[in-house]
Amino acid sequence: MTWRKILGIKALENSGNHVSINLGDGKVVFITKQNGKLYGINGICSHLKCILGNVSEDGKHVICPCHNAKFELDTGKMVEPPFIAPQTPMEKYTLETYNLREEGNFIEIEE
Ligand code: FES
Repeated sequence: MTWRKILGIKALENSGNHVSINLGDGKVVFITKQNGKLYGINGICSHLKCILGNVSEDGKHVICPCHNAKFELDTGKMVEPPFIAPQTPMEKYTLETYNLREEGNFIEIEE
């Protein structure tokens, strides 16, 4: 396993503490820091591929801006379905999560 620098810590702070970035290899990662903990989750919504998103008030979820599906930052699990598809089998729509760390002035992802 290796670590790759993907974002400056200042850039995360300047973007309101959450941002989706394209890593250039087809992967988009939603990054946020909540209560001192960094979260990395697939930034492409598993419903209809909108780019995530906004952090919930409790700081534990990301909400898709398109149809409000809600995902746990820790596990990537969908915990609320899209409002246009309330019967969505949520267990099939879990998003991948990534290990992130701070190193110097940068955020790194484990690959
Ligand atoms: S694209 Fe995300 S909830 Fe529909």
